[in-house]
Amino acid sequence: RMVKRYMACRNDIHRHDAPFLAVYKSLIPAEEELEKQKQLMAKLDNLVAKEWPNAKLYLYGSCANSFGFPKSDIDVCLAIEDDDVNKPEMLLKLADILESNDLQNVQALTRARVPIVKLMDPVTEISCDICINNVLAVVNTKLLRDYSLIDVRLRQLAFIVKHWAKSRRVNETYQGTLSSYAYVLMCIHYLQQRSPPILPCLQEMEPTYSVRVDNIRCAYFDNVERLSTFGSSNRETIAELVWGFFNYWAYGHDYANTVVSVRTGSILGKREKDWTRRVGNDRHLICIEDPFETSHDLGRVVDKFSIRVLREEFERAAKIMHQDPNPSAKLFELY
Ligand code: CTP
Ligand code: MG
Repeated sequence: RMVKRYMACRNDIHRHDAPFLAVYKSLIPAEEELEKQKQLMAKLDNLVAKEWPNAKLYLYGSCANSFGFPKSDIDVCLAIEDDDVNKPEMLLKLADILESNDLQNVQALTRARVPIVKLMDPVTEISCDICINNVLAVVNTKLLRDYSLIDVRLRQLAFIVKHWAKSRRVNETYQGTLSSYAYVLMCIHYLQQRSPPILPCLQEMEPTYSVRVDNIRCAYFDNVERLSTFGSSNRETIAELVWGFFNYWAYGHDYANTVVSVRTGSILGKREKDWTRRVGNDRHLICIEDPFETSHDLGRVVDKFSIRVLREEFERAAKIMHQDPNPSAKLFELY
């Protein structure tokens, strides 16, 4: 009887597909916004090339990984191969150049954890942060984008999870909750774990792309157009995946002992990573391995208070998916 009721519930979930897809569609940025981003990049490229002819600008983060919301700020990395770049000096110089070329609100934050220059472009009204030589972020941005090209359900799930996290205020790393980057990795991992899988593990396949960044080898299979039917034997739909994602993080995940790992497409033990005890400020209360900087736990920002907030929110979301007549509205109610 239990099994039967569970099945009925899972079948019933499909009537929520259309409302969830509508939420997803409403969150996709318009083409003209992408055009404006390109326009601003071209302007910045020009200014940078005049001063540093061997530097290159890259977009990274949500504006380039295909998980960006409308009207978000853009993240830019200035890459320059020079063994002794003085980042603060270079940022101050860059700020000067930007200011004298009519960009507004120019601010060099040279002492931040990731030093940046902030600016606002009055023509496109886009705000932008520029950092120097954060090349790993450019590479992990490409990894996320490549995963998004394999199966559209990743983009659907990640937009809904990000929208939920922002609405419920659990997307605030300075408050001890998780970054958007962490949530997207959680979504990729979830889809790798489905049976049959919806996403492959690109880093376990024969590499077609390989770069070395700060002594870390970043290599994976990036011919993703060849994988466009990879997930097609799995017929799960968006409402079912949202249901399963929250159910996993509310009731299925072993927080005490395990680490989710997109790099291996599997669940690792905390022991093998030596993430069993607190070291400095890293508590490892929820463990999400960075795909390239494998010593980085993206859950390291979570403390003993915020872990409770997070888990309560996962449970709230799971309950709504189980019981609420209108989950696609209730899930995103503002906290
Ligand atoms: N990043 C990283 N390591 C982290 C956090 C972020 O390498 N611990 C990099 C990733 O390349 C990520 C980018 O910084 O894509 C931006 O991170 P974040 O602001 O979390 O994500 P966005 O995709 O920009 O999301 P949002 O829409 O919330 O701005
Ligand atoms: Mg961002």
